[in-house]
Amino acid sequence: MPTVQDIRRKAGDEPITMLTAYDAPTAAAVEAAGLDMVLVGDSMGNAVMGYDSTLPVTMDDVVSRTGAVARATEDTLVVADMPFLSFGASEEASVENAGRLLKDAGAQAVKLECGEHTVELTDTLTSLGIPVMAHLGLTPQHVNQLGGYTRQGTTEDTASEILRLAEAHADAGAFSLVLEHVPANVAAQITDAIDIPTIGIGAGPDTDGQVLVVTDVLGMTDWSPPFAKQYGDLKAEMESAIAEYKQDVENGDFPASEHSHTADDLDDLY
Ligand code: KIV
Ligand code: NA
Repeated sequence: MPTVQDIRRKAGDEPITMLTAYDAPTAAAVEAAGLDMVLVGDSMGNAVMGYDSTLPVTMDDVVSRTGAVARATEDTLVVADMPFLSFGASEEASVENAGRLLKDAGAQAVKLECGEHTVELTDTLTSLGIPVMAHLGLTPQHVNQLGGYTRQGTTEDTASEILRLAEAHADAGAFSLVLEHVPANVAAQITDAIDIPTIGIGAGPDTDGQVLVVTDVLGMTDWSPPFAKQYGDLKAEMESAIAEYKQDVENGDFPASEHSHTADDLDDLY
């Protein structure tokens, strides 16, 4: 069972690999490929729940999906995302919700979309034994504030603010930091400046690791962000398999004899 300390040790030696997963079979595939970490991201809202943002995702959603991922993995560190408004408003509720992800769902760490308001919370959670992955740059739970899913840290002021918050969260005890949709040179400088691993998404090649949304990687969606790379074509694969099944049923080709059985000694039922 890998720990957050293994992730910290790996940084700088070898790239750290991470993908999201929201169910057991996908998590098992991530583990079979030997990735370091799996993120049960609130991106599940867009990726598999049919919402057009992450805002409607609930604690119950993340607990349920984290449970599925945790049951399917043994050698992959499971990080669960804290959904919108499950943290940050009151310390007591934040601690209770983070605790559920470890106690009820089987995560080994939580991820928080960060700002000034999460520095103290990171200290509190880590002091209590709940490892924290911080997340800066584009924080999609702030979409209404930001006005869109736009690049962050593109000016000297905003890049310096991300660096300042990165240092504050590292000092508060975060074990790693996701940097989303920031310029590669900004991510490189932050990676140099802090002593915890950075995990980039749309943040260039110089972070300590990379994360992507698994449905983008597998090609299951109609749209994916320009910084993602599609490695599979599962949407087409699903559509053709399902269409073939429908056709077989309509043609009488399914079920065939090998898919059905007859009880020989059974009398007529009436
Ligand atoms: O929810 C998510 O998948 C994330 C990653 C994009 C980092 O936060
Ligand atoms: Na997220």
